[in-house]
Amino acid sequence: MADSSSLPTQEIVQGLLESPARIAPKYFYDAAGSLLFEEITRLPEYYPTRTERQIMVAHGVDIAHRLGSGATVIELGAGSCEKARELCQLIAPAHFVAVDISSEFLHDAVVQLRDALPDVDVRALAADLTADFTLPQDLPRQRRLVFYPGSSIGNFDPAQALELLSRMRGLLDDDGALLIGVDLVKEVAVLEAAYDDAAGVTAAFNLNVLNHVNQLIASDFEPSQWCHCAFFNVAESRIEMHLEASVENVVRWPGGQRRFARGERIHTENSYKYQAQDFVRLLNQAGLARTEVWSDDRSWFALFLARP
Ligand code: AVJ
Repeated sequence: MADSSSLPTQEIVQGLLESPARIAPKYFYDAAGSLLFEEITRLPEYYPTRTERQIMVAHGVDIAHRLGSGATVIELGAGSCEKARELCQLIAPAHFVAVDISSEFLHDAVVQLRDALPDVDVRALAADLTADFTLPQDLPRQRRLVFYPGSSIGNFDPAQALELLSRMRGLLDDDGALLIGVDLVKEVAVLEAAYDDAAGVTAAFNLNVLNHVNQLIASDFEPSQWCHCAFFNVAESRIEMHLEASVENVVRWPGGQRRFARGERIHTENSYKYQAQDFVRLLNQAGLARTEVWSDDRSWFALFLARP
């Protein structure tokens, strides 16, 4: 994988040489990282996954009623496909395409999904959502539902989010819809605990990106020399995750190196939190004019159904 001409290599090296250094959050998701993320979703502090599920349990029938059966569901960032199974049981689509960056993880998930949903045409597509990806040619264009749960949209800044939402709109005909889960602004202590859990799973997830980068660019990051750091940036309305060097160290890879001072950080993730009305505005700007929203009783998380 450590091919010096490949795109991930160039992108990672470029990010490491910037000031401050950065690693894009999509690199969290090697096989180990995908498993750690699954573990995060079950942590007591990490409310988004279970809150989104509660909203689906409470309002799924209502949502399904608006969509009807026989649709073509395209799930972005499908991961374990756990939510997909629940959604498909509700809306009985004809086709289901799981798109995810982690191809190994996706393959296993799709095999299980086929067993659980014998009446649905289930397919997997390993792709980077931030690049242009091509859906299977024979996939119907009519009655598509793009499903983007889990507040993964939060990884993008509002301008990039708008671009991504516009691309999703582009996958739809006028009879299509987007169902998207979005984490909402709330008390800072609740937000920060969700990204710095007591069991240290989020720390392990953040540090694991260094192992993955070592694999991808043949670098020699020593994860034990780095610490997990997460906080809510109020001005930007985002959780920021960083890795902080606990000692001065030099990281080398074929063709380059970088020295990190003690306390110097690598920015690994942003997770934007929205006010519901601001997210509606973003959907509208992306050409999704008709929106409906469902939330939990604390208004911690929201599910938006948006149509052209
Ligand atoms: C997968 C981007 C939605 O931002 O909450 C969880 C990733 N990072 N804990 C999030 C994540 C640290 C997650 N998303």
